[in-house]
Amino acid sequence: ATEETLVLVKPDGVARGLTGAILARIEAKGYALVDLRLVEPDRERLERHYAEHEGKPFYEPLLEFMMSGPSVAIRLAGNRVIEGFRSLAGTTDPTTAAPGTIRGDLGRDWGLKVQQNLVHGSDSTESAARELEIWFG
Ligand code: CMP
Repeated sequence: ATEETLVLVKPDGVARGLTGAILARIEAKGYALVDLRLVEPDRERLERHYAEHEGKPFYEPLLEFMMSGPSVAIRLAGNRVIEGFRSLAGTTDPTTAAPGTIRGDLGRDWGLKVQQNLVHGSDSTESAARELEIWFG
């Protein structure tokens, strides 16, 4: 059945001018853009979004990184889009993400305390509902 997911082009993707290239991959795969906006999230929104990572060593650097510039938030729809976008994105670490994926083709390790990995995608139907509410209300 058709479902929706939250995709973020994170600040590194926007700053590097890769928003268009990332959107082109999403559109070429055939998923539907339902809503899209440029967002500069405050700390409170990010604390909600990343609640599960609170206390991890990369948590503070992650919030700092996500506040370093705008992200593009996308409400994306399609059959199995949650799983499908995560496959398109590749694994978390861009150094070893498979070539052919967004992270594998366009990302790398910049030697920072946080993985700057270009995109975020919800990891389950529950996360998607929760995250879409946080970013789109
Ligand atoms: P994302 O999928 O948006 O969710 C959590 C983020 O934390 C992840 O992308 C990375 O940006 C970052 N992250 C996850 N694991 C690590 C790690 N081991 N070291 C640094 N950053 C990480």
